[in-house]
Amino acid sequence: MVSEKLIAPSILSADFANLEKEIKAIAAAGADWVHVDVMDGHFVPNLTIGIPVVQSLKKISPLPLDVHLMIDEPEKYIEGFIKAGSDYLTIHVESTKEPAAVLRRIRALGAKAGITLRPGTSIEKILPLLELCDLALVMTVEPGFGGQSFMRDQIAKISRLRQEIQTRKLSLLIEVDGGINEQTALECHEADVFVAGNYVFKNDYATAIAHLKGRSLV
Ligand code: DX5
Ligand code: ZN
Repeated sequence: MVSEKLIAPSILSADFANLEKEIKAIAAAGADWVHVDVMDGHFVPNLTIGIPVVQSLKKISPLPLDVHLMIDEPEKYIEGFIKAGSDYLTIHVESTKEPAAVLRRIRALGAKAGITLRPGTSIEKILPLLELCDLALVMTVEPGFGGQSFMRDQIAKISRLRQEIQTRKLSLLIEVDGGINEQTALECHEADVFVAGNYVFKNDYATAIAHLKGRSLV
């Protein structure tokens, strides 16, 4: 487990007319990564941003880009997202027939590979893939929208991942995404990386980030 939590504000809750300003502001406020939610209107019932936007963000971001793909057939697009500058590229296990091959390809193309799953998907589905991953993301809301309520029943997945990492001596990071605020972050103390959209962007950025880091130390 990392000694200090990493904070990845989700720009889904940022002002889209001022993304450069927003990213520089969260960097100055102590954020560690920028979380970029990519949705295709098929895998989830919402549309957000794509490869050209990631390419533009890469030019101005002082922070690594943590790109969360909520799209069908990610194998068609991973090369584009990596060339555009994704540092971490996370796919949903439900979104492709060949998750292992996609994860291997992400690494071969030079990015860090992440795996994630919907709240209704059993953790067992991703356990055989952990050796191929630099990050495992636990969703604590149904993917698709920011500002939803935290699903407490998903916390057991974080503990299970922590156990597997210890037993199998793996070094991947555990990230949690959805409904994270200073209280729910405490409940997820076994995670390494907190994604937070509304909690950061609807509050004072530096205060929110400090609360997520300071009050979540274990
Ligand atoms: C949901 C996205 C999240 C979302 C989090 O599909 O993956 O990253 O932006 O937003 P909050 O923190 O507001 O729940
Ligand atoms: Zn996300």
